[in-house]
Amino acid sequence: MNKHINTRVPGIWHGGDYNPDQWLHKPEIIDRDFELMEKAGCNVFSIGIFAWAAYEPREGEFHFDWMKDVLDRMHQTGRFALLSTPSGGRPRWLAQTYPEVLRVQQNRVRDLYGQRHNHCYTSPAMREKVRQINTELARRFGDHPAVIAWHISNEIQGECYCPLCQDAFREWLKTKYKGDLDALNQNYWSSFWAHQYTDWSQIEPFSHHGDNDVIHGINIDWKRFVTHQTADFFREECVPLRQYAPDIPITTNLMGYYPEELEKRALTEQCDFTSWDTYPLWHDDQEPNELAWGAHVAFEADYTRSLSKSGRFVQMEATPSNTNWQGVAKHKRPGMHHLASLQSVAHGADGVLYFQWRSGRSGCEKFHGSIVSHDGRDDTRVFQDVAALDKRLRAIAPVAGSAVHAKVALIFDTVTRWAVSGTQGFHKDHKDYVEVCKKWHEALWMENVSVDLRESDEDLSGYDLVIAPMLYALRPETADNLKRYVAKGGTLFGSCITGYVNENDLCWMNGFPGPLRELYGIRIEELDTLHDGDKNQLIPLANNPLALSEPGMLETYCERIHPEGADVLAHYGMDFYKDEPVLTRHRFEKGKVFYLAAQPDDALRKTLIHNLLNQCDIPRHLTKQPTGIIAQKRHHENGDTFLFVMNFGESSATAKLDPETHYRCLETGTDISRELNLSPYEVRILNLKK
Ligand code: GLA
Ligand code: ZN
Repeated sequence: MNKHINTRVPGIWHGGDYNPDQWLHKPEIIDRDFELMEKAGCNVFSIGIFAWAAYEPREGEFHFDWMKDVLDRMHQTGRFALLSTPSGGRPRWLAQTYPEVLRVQQNRVRDLYGQRHNHCYTSPAMREKVRQINTELARRFGDHPAVIAWHISNEIQGECYCPLCQDAFREWLKTKYKGDLDALNQNYWSSFWAHQYTDWSQIEPFSHHGDNDVIHGINIDWKRFVTHQTADFFREECVPLRQYAPDIPITTNLMGYYPEELEKRALTEQCDFTSWDTYPLWHDDQEPNELAWGAHVAFEADYTRSLSKSGRFVQMEATPSNTNWQGVAKHKRPGMHHLASLQSVAHGADGVLYFQWRSGRSGCEKFHGSIVSHDGRDDTRVFQDVAALDKRLRAIAPVAGSAVHAKVALIFDTVTRWAVSGTQGFHKDHKDYVEVCKKWHEALWMENVSVDLRESDEDLSGYDLVIAPMLYALRPETADNLKRYVAKGGTLFGSCITGYVNENDLCWMNGFPGPLRELYGIRIEELDTLHDGDKNQLIPLANNPLALSEPGMLETYCERIHPEGADVLAHYGMDFYKDEPVLTRHRFEKGKVFYLAAQPDDALRKTLIHNLLNQCDIPRHLTKQPTGIIAQKRHHENGDTFLFVMNFGESSATAKLDPETHYRCLETGTDISRELNLSPYEVRILNLKK
């Protein structure tokens, strides 16, 4: 048996955000929606996301009949709902009666009522009102046969600097530091520029016109607090849902790695499956655009899947055509909608949902792409494209609930991200930790392997290879976790700017990479930063175990390192540290670790990943493909394997299949051997039995 998110819908979910609350005065539109849903074939809709004012136009006055009608009609027509909690958009009366629900920005000015996704996470009034409305929803609809999941709020994000949040921050710090202000001062190195705290009341989080980025420790603690407070609000949102509808799974729509201030795990640990909103800039004017955006989507999809306790996730939003907010919002060219949607499925998604079902008549999103436009027609290009995809998703229904098996993990560490982003130094334009991680992930993706993204403290024992680029901030426990993994036989690859500080941005005092010195068998003496366009060279030694035969190019960062037990595999080729080591290998108990003391260019990164995968005997889903062809796999518990072969190129290409394997096209049932011709943006899904 495959593991479905909800066994009531065994196939792949297909649908989108549906806002009937905007059309209650025009029942004929809702009637037409149900006719059109039949024609599109879509079966799952996220509803009630911004419906709070429709449910409760005045405090305590509730109207739920309209939602009951919509859910009943969904059930009668074989459709399902992700029922949202409406906290993403609050009604005006709530802000008018309880101004504390409005956020205060970092400049310490309170917002007026407006926008959405912007309430205070501490406010007792907000928490109470959300508890009430969620209780009403859970009691009324928790056992409705159309409801298959709860969708908590919408795109949870943001910070609030109001007095309530600041007080809560101070209390949170008192608990964290067990009431010891000296310990806090030590952690923050606050003697710098005479910033010592002598009373808890002096603690103020970040502000551009106050303590901005001088004391890094408090900024990292503030992000921890924002994460804590948001997760606590989330927990309270879930209480009535779990109480009245314990069998309905919970999710919330993440936005990939955005926003920086939240550690996503604090939310996803409370979810039964994860979901994600994806808005890549397909067809932008960069080269090579589609492949680069495909790599971006792959990173976010792998991240969303890796964050899911159950391994299950869905694409909650994507545009079926264009957005209204991108600089140049091109429509997806023919073929791209199917490629983009099926790419999510290839990476493990069990649902393809969009923003949105029908365009509103006005409001700032009236020209955002939707399945049904203002003319309400079903013969439009976009509607037909979605309907055609629906048929394909039904044909590949056996894929739903199957799993992605990754043998490679990439460490994507939230605390390092926070610490790198706040620190001063390095190459200011290239210290973006996220970009560095994405580049390593892209090299893996181009090799056609599956990759999980892991925080540095997560269990790594199931992986054959772990890539840990730029792991700048290290707790001793994290270092122990990596050591444990390697000691048992794992292979770890790290790269420059590793182990400079601890989790509070206090530098390690006995040589970098701090607590990983023993594992990597090296000591880092200094970091050289190169101008854009400056290069150094990596000169491999003969017969090195990574099978590097050609010199490679290095850019941006070069560390001078001293081996302390590690073998040298390559030297620098230029500058005053010419002939000094740049790449090392160290055996550690049953495993081994590699350290690249510099930043490689794209070509060298590709070679390193290729050779590392070979070294670890990690099979590719497909080998040696023309540029643009990418393969991903999902595995069914019954032994079926589904191979997604995707063409991100703008011209036709021929994928080379494994001659030993028997392939059958899941959609047409035809047998395929050796070669597969793919037109631009085409995707084929093959069932594969050895
Ligand atoms: C976000 C929101 C949606 C909608 C889309 C538009 O993802 O969650 O409500 O505003 O953006 O792209
Ligand atoms: Zn607040």
